Amino acid sequence: MPERVRITDVAPRDGLQNEAGFVPTADKADLVRAIAATGVREVEITSFVSPKWVPQLGDAAELCDLLAADKPEGVVYSALVPNEKGLDGVLAANERAGFKLIDKVGVFASASETFSRKNTNASIAEVLERFVPVIGRARKHGLKVRGYVSCIVACPFEGPTEPFATAAVATRLADLGVEEIDLGDTIGAGTGATFGRVLSTTLQALDEAHEWSDASRVTVHLHDTHGLAAECVRVALELGVRSFDSSVAGLGGCPFASTPEQRAPGNISTEVLLREIERAGLRHHVDHAALEQAAALAQRLVAESRQAEGSAS
Ligand code: HMG
Ligand code: MG
Repeated sequence: MPERVRITDVAPRDGLQNEAGFVPTADKADLVRAIAATGVREVEITSFVSPKWVPQLGDAAELCDLLAADKPEGVVYSALVPNEKGLDGVLAANERAGFKLIDKVGVFASASETFSRKNTNASIAEVLERFVPVIGRARKHGLKVRGYVSCIVACPFEGPTEPFATAAVATRLADLGVEEIDLGDTIGAGTGATFGRVLSTTLQALDEAHEWSDASRVTVHLHDTHGLAAECVRVALELGVRSFDSSVAGLGGCPFASTPEQRAPGNISTEVLLREIERAGLRHHVDHAALEQAAALAQRLVAESRQAEGSAS
């Protein structure tokens, strides 16, 4: 039986954080439910970050309270946390729910110093230091921890990233105790060749430092600026990676990776990712008809929020 690839749909988080408008909380909850109904194993539902930095997701607590009423069996809900305050928000949401509504938290670092400052107002070293108590407390509460590394191929401000810089941050996150590393090509700069170089360097470094030969502990998070994300998926599958992030309808982008010339690009769409998984002869858990419904909802919500934003400004 061919292996199954794990998909985390990050549209409610990466997708909605990059929209100028605010999607109402009840609509966000419907989007999470529609995505969970597609069969994806994991949904990144929101971020517990500063609402001053990302007002679009300032309703993380309220969203969790809505979702606590009907979390489906077998789906993992995750959320980003940049610091202990964010983790406190997750733990409080789980406490109010009376069960582990959020199963996993994502801490996020960068391979680029400039992006680290733009995204978190701190250097790479400071961010990693901040994560020590976050990871320790999260694990004590039985939460899984994913460690993101952004700008693995290039930074919107500094240009190309050296593969060893990505490998060093990924290894450090593994030293700190994350169960999973998520490698982000934040601005979709990778080609099969450049992305493949950084991925194989990082897989090798993780294996040497921690014997992480199980490639399902590494997730690949692509943005699809130049239409090359599918090529990068093929390279990652060849290198043994079996876990990918994607976004229904290709929503997404980090607002702090936008420059005056270029708005941060969307994630690889779940639809394109499925095509590559199927072409490789592997399996997934997603139902195409349910995915179409979720994509239609995502597109409608984004269109409504853009319309509301347009008439307000
Ligand atoms: P700061 O301003 O240096 O933090 O921001 P601070 O500690 O000085 O706090 C400032 C204010 O924020 C205070 O409020 C804090 O209480 C509050 P005030 O006293 O002024 O009223 N605050 C918080 N509120 C709620 N939840 C929190 C929290 N923390 C502080 N967790 C900070 C530092 C890290 C908080 C800020 O820079 C931040 O929130 N950054 C988040 C940026 C972000 O969400 N970026 C997008 C996600 S990463 C991404 O998209 C990349 C990825 O997709 C992978 C890829 O594509 O590569 C994952
Ligand atoms: Mg992203």
